[in-house]
Amino acid sequence: MNIIVINASPRKRGNTAKLCKNVVKGAESENASVEYINLYDYDFKGCMSCFACHLKKNSENPLCFWRDDLKEILKKCLKADGIVIGTPIYYGSITSYAQAFLERLLFAADTYLIDDDGNRVSKIKKEIKTAMIYTMNVTKEMDYFNGEDQLAIMRGYMTNILGECESLYVYDTKQFKHYSPYLNNMFDPQHKEEQAKIQFPKDCEKAFELGKKFGKI
Ligand SMILES: Cc1cc2nc3c(=O)[nH]c(=O)nc-3n(C[C@H](O)[C@H](O)[C@H](O)COP(=O)(O)O)c2cc1C
Repeated sequence: MNIIVINASPRKRGNTAKLCKNVVKGAESENASVEYINLYDYDFKGCMSCFACHLKKNSENPLCFWRDDLKEILKKCLKADGIVIGTPIYYGSITSYAQAFLERLLFAADTYLIDDDGNRVSKIKKEIKTAMIYTMNVTKEMDYFNGEDQLAIMRGYMTNILGECESLYVYDTKQFKHYSPYLNNMFDPQHKEEQAKIQFPKDCEKAFELGKKFGKI
């Protein structure tokens, strides 16, 4: 099995990276071939709206035509059996790099064609299973974060264009080693410390299990 794991956080040793690395371990424990990508190492843009991918003559080609660092990564993704994307939540949404990556991956595989059942026609013939791992500061209970609904929109497109998409929500992450130097009275450092010791390892275990599941595809 061929799995791509993408860390769409700028931090290479942060929460998202740790979870993504657990996905890699899980998939490798099932003997899958796994590639780990730090998305912020690459220089690329989101969809440039050139529409080359939507030309009739390119109806069979799901690869974005724009030439920059992302092209090789997109090529690998289209050959993969599964793609797992980890992203922190920035202002209620996925990171700008995760957004740019998904625009390029999805739009080139998408069309403006509707089939007889009223569904959009995707150029992807073999399902590519995907998963999103979201990490965030807030707890599930903090009701100003209406993310689950908002994030479901992108997952809906991923499901229609690529294949089944699942999600892992990791709440209440510890952002800093020490909170005291920062402008903060919103997050209790003691609580974050406990959370990092007790809950985060459980979340890492879930990420490992997700990797195992993907490794078995
Ligand atoms: C620019 C920015 C915006 C953020 N916005 C949110 C947010 O809207 N909701 C939230 O819960 N956490 C927010 N966070 C916190 C991160 O999502 C959280 O700490 C995450 O686990 C960081 O992942 P990392 O350790 O991989 O960098 C934000 C962080 C940054 C840097």
